[in-house]
Amino acid sequence: MNDNLHQLRCIGCGAQIKGADAQPDFRCAVCGELFEVEYPGWNQRKGPDRPNPGALKWLWRERRCSAEALDQSGVWRYRELLPILDSFGNTVSLREGNTPLYRLTRAAKALGIDQLYAKHQGLNPTGSFKDTGMTAALSVARERGFEWVACASTGNTSASMAAYAARAGMRSLVLIPDGKIAWGKLSQAMDYGAITCQLKTDFDGCLQLLTQIVKEAPVYLLNSVNPYRLEGQKTPAFEIAEAFDWNIPDHLIVPGGNLGNSSALGKGFREMRELGLTARMPRISVIQAAGANPLVRSLESNEGRAMQPVEAHTRATAIRIGNPASWRKAARAIRETGGWCIDVTEAEIAIAKAEIGAEGLGCEPASAVTLAGLKKLRAKGAIASGETVVLVLTGHTLKDADYTIDFHRGALLSAEEKEGVEAEIESLRRNAVQMEASADAVLAALKAGAR
Ligand code: F0G
Repeated sequence: MNDNLHQLRCIGCGAQIKGADAQPDFRCAVCGELFEVEYPGWNQRKGPDRPNPGALKWLWRERRCSAEALDQSGVWRYRELLPILDSFGNTVSLREGNTPLYRLTRAAKALGIDQLYAKHQGLNPTGSFKDTGMTAALSVARERGFEWVACASTGNTSASMAAYAARAGMRSLVLIPDGKIAWGKLSQAMDYGAITCQLKTDFDGCLQLLTQIVKEAPVYLLNSVNPYRLEGQKTPAFEIAEAFDWNIPDHLIVPGGNLGNSSALGKGFREMRELGLTARMPRISVIQAAGANPLVRSLESNEGRAMQPVEAHTRATAIRIGNPASWRKAARAIRETGGWCIDVTEAEIAIAKAEIGAEGLGCEPASAVTLAGLKKLRAKGAIASGETVVLVLTGHTLKDADYTIDFHRGALLSAEEKEGVEAEIESLRRNAVQMEASADAVLAALKAGAR
């Protein structure tokens, strides 16, 4: 059976091409911009290809009780909204998605917000949101007969790609910036059997190099310039809508690195509205690290019409990106929903991360920009107390244990970075204490901790 209903449309010049005709670097041959997946059948008012909202909501709920592998994936459970494969039999899945939506009660109280939630995408099979996109794009690679897949990465994409490639019996090539990725992520790529090249450049340099390589070797590019990645990554929008019984929350806050994720979630919410599944879109805000903030600068200086790359610096290595590929798509999602794009400092990220940890959830540093950004937006009066806010936590806390340990040992931030927030940081630090193996020593520690 052919389930495939899609084509690709260039976001720059509007050129429409068949999926199989895309160039290896997924850039438009006419104008050089990126493509997005579209489904022409959805534009017909009635017709066999236009999804029926009521029937879909019922079907997706039913699938939660199904024993079928495809139904157990939180991505493919919604497969009617991503008909990108000739046959769903080609799907490579690790049961990704279906991640929890937690209430953040302490942060909500501190901020004076009634309804604050965290959608924890770090609880995917390889510990990051990348899995939802990887199952989609890697399935396309397999269906098209590729043996090799490749990505440039700050760590999570490579971990995810290597795992899915291994499941499919395919080979994977990883390009990462030397010395600037968290060990947890690097160890995953090794464990899942990728060929891993640590290059003496940054993420942007890795991606540029890979763009050349895919033109010369039969290797399928799996960075988020690949529009099929975004088809998978749009599905958490469906999960969020479903969790709120199809009433959309007021505000979604997403970290911004290469800007694929914010673009994908924007597309997911847009498509649900266009198909009549939901009545509106949430405000989508993107938060960047202050040392890696090209989109913030672009929106401030020219309303997102052009973007100047920056040299990126942040300890949140996942978003250490100075020349984000999907900036136009992300700028569109922010503009059309009335969202904000702001940046946060290293100290603000570290504090927010410790606060998310103290709620019993934890996340990696890049994910914590969401809470840090929310605090800033709330302080500016941009968010009312009655609004429902969802933070997208993108990675698991164990991805970057070094960062967490350095924070709690007091070794993460410089004196300059800590200026003005020393007391706040001290109140969050929980260092491990070395002591004699005696009951008295432990009881003394207990007494000190209870104070
Ligand atoms: N959070 C985490 C944990 C990430 O790994 C990334 C990106 C982002 C946020 C930003 O998402 O790029 O879609 O805006 N990591 C990529 C990687 C670049 O290679 O793993 P984005």
